[in-house]
Amino acid sequence: MRLLFLGPPGAGKGTQAKRVAANLGIPHIATGDMLRQAVSEGTELGMQARSIMERGDLVPDDLVIAMLVERISRDDASTGFILDGFPRTIAQAEALEVRLRDEGLDGAVVIDVDPEEIVRRISGRRVCANGHVFHIDDAPSERGEICDQCGESVYQRDDDRAETVRNRLDVYRRQTEPLLAFYRERGLAMHVVDGVGSVDSITDAIMARL
Ligand code: AP5
Repeated sequence: MRLLFLGPPGAGKGTQAKRVAANLGIPHIATGDMLRQAVSEGTELGMQARSIMERGDLVPDDLVIAMLVERISRDDASTGFILDGFPRTIAQAEALEVRLRDEGLDGAVVIDVDPEEIVRRISGRRVCANGHVFHIDDAPSERGEICDQCGESVYQRDDDRAETVRNRLDVYRRQTEPLLAFYRERGLAMHVVDGVGSVDSITDAIMARL
């Protein structure tokens, strides 16, 4: 199954995509995670992406498309995948369409959460270097500042500061939200799910829709 997870920053795409991918036995491919890894490894891509991500802007299409096309060409993605955070622009969606000309997409899960809840979620989010995600109120690490899953330090993402979050929401509205109409026009199955509720209940709702 080839699925997209769409929705604003902080909607819970990563939280849900990991669980649904595990249920379906397909890889969870998150361009934000891949870019953060490139930044932490200091690769050429990471050096180009770093300041752009810190501002909450989008990394140029050509760089992200090349990274994504390489990733979905690997063996583990041959029977399906979940894309989380890609596409984010019409140009990225068109490039994906060309790459998947033969296979196509099976659907998009759209996680719907209102802006106030998004700000609360992002400002309370904490992560570790291995990509485990917490929330200071709703889902704190049992070991406080240490990740209770891998022992790494838990910290706030650079782009989760209040001033950057506003820009990310604005970028989402201008550049990414138009993808909903793009895919509706193409007749892609759009599974809109209410993103407010317990993490388990939202996973159940997505699985039922799929
Ligand atoms: P990316 O990492 O993709 O960020 P994003 O889309 O802004 O998404 P987030 O990771 O912020 O949120 P999420 O929806 O995954 O929510 P999460 O599950 O963590 O991208 C970062 C940057 O990389 C971009 O700004 C851009 O610069 C660059 N980039 C990436 N892809 C790109 C592309 N294709 N093109 C160009 N540039 C690109 O949940 C959020 C919080 O809420 C967590 O604390 C979680 O614990 C909590 N939470 C989750 N579910 C619930 C629930 N049901 N109830 C209460 N709390 C919940």
